[in-house]
Amino acid sequence: MKNFKLTPEIITFDKCMEFCSEFNIGEGDLIITNEYIYKPFFESYIKDATIIYRRDYGNGEPSDKMVEKIYNDVKDINYKRVIGIGGGSILDVSKLFALEQITPICDLFEKKFPPKKVKELILIPTTCGTGSEVTNISVLHLSSLNSKFGLANDEILADYAILIPELLSILPFKIFAASAIDALIHAIESFVSPKASVFTEMYSKEAIRMIINGFKTIADEGQQSLENLLDNFLIASTYAGIAFGNAGCGTVHAMSFPLGSFYHVPHGESNYVFLTEVFKTYMKLNPDGKIKDLCKLLSEILDCPEKYVFDETEKLLYHILPKKSLQGYGAKEEDLIIFTENVVTKQGRLMANAYVPLDKNTIYEIYKSLF
Ligand SMILES: [Fe+2]
Repeated sequence: MKNFKLTPEIITFDKCMEFCSEFNIGEGDLIITNEYIYKPFFESYIKDATIIYRRDYGNGEPSDKMVEKIYNDVKDINYKRVIGIGGGSILDVSKLFALEQITPICDLFEKKFPPKKVKELILIPTTCGTGSEVTNISVLHLSSLNSKFGLANDEILADYAILIPELLSILPFKIFAASAIDALIHAIESFVSPKASVFTEMYSKEAIRMIINGFKTIADEGQQSLENLLDNFLIASTYAGIAFGNAGCGTVHAMSFPLGSFYHVPHGESNYVFLTEVFKTYMKLNPDGKIKDLCKLLSEILDCPEKYVFDETEKLLYHILPKKSLQGYGAKEEDLIIFTENVVTKQGRLMANAYVPLDKNTIYEIYKSLF
């Protein structure tokens, strides 16, 4: 059985002002965002909403501790809508505040009680990567497990995904690069997932095409060309979100979670470390399955022979963001066994979507080759 569901209503606005007016944002709204986004784009159009700046609750990737601290500050406030405005971390955290019961957060993620949505949820991405605005997934670092962990449940789907390209105009290039590479990985991993369907493939393919063509333009014309490409990247990352929200991500995400958790590497950047090596391993293990279609598609877009598509992808991505080794992020050789153990024991949700099931030794060898 193959499923395809597209729940949030997707609405685009040219300006933040238009969104605030159309949705009558104000009293009764809980807005979770960053100060550097809220002040220039929203503050003058909004009155009497409760504003939470995520940075006031800690830096780095979102964690259970961060969510519990925010919860302590808002639990006595009677809000009716939750509006998350930010990158993947903010959107993932915002999803939880639409639920009737949020704490203990680890119990929620470990499915000790069922999530129940009781507030309207509006998500507005400010990077062009995570696609979180259209998925039913929230990923947090859980202190008790010392690991990133994902909650996937339709109760945390947004009611509205709002796309406003204006918000991307202040995105630093490095954050754009990591988030756009993350979006490309969503599109590629979902394309070869066993849960892929003709519907998800359509979104995956178009996202792959739009993102790689955008990267080619940047590689040829320089970073200043990004200004005219932002709308495209925002749409492409939402396409990729629709694809992976239905078909799932796989080994690249699973292997990147321990690196991200242990060494606080931003999500897109840690995924980037693993992309081509995981796909070269898939190719060795089963070159005749769905990966053939992926190679054909990439060879058309990259204009290279099919056998070189992953090398050419790597070369192109290097123009966008230089890639580091695991050691470059501070990893030590003894971490590789711990990372492998984490993938095998804690990332089953993602590994179930691997193109080819990978055993412990293969996962370890991939880590070792990237060390
Ligand atoms: Fe991702």
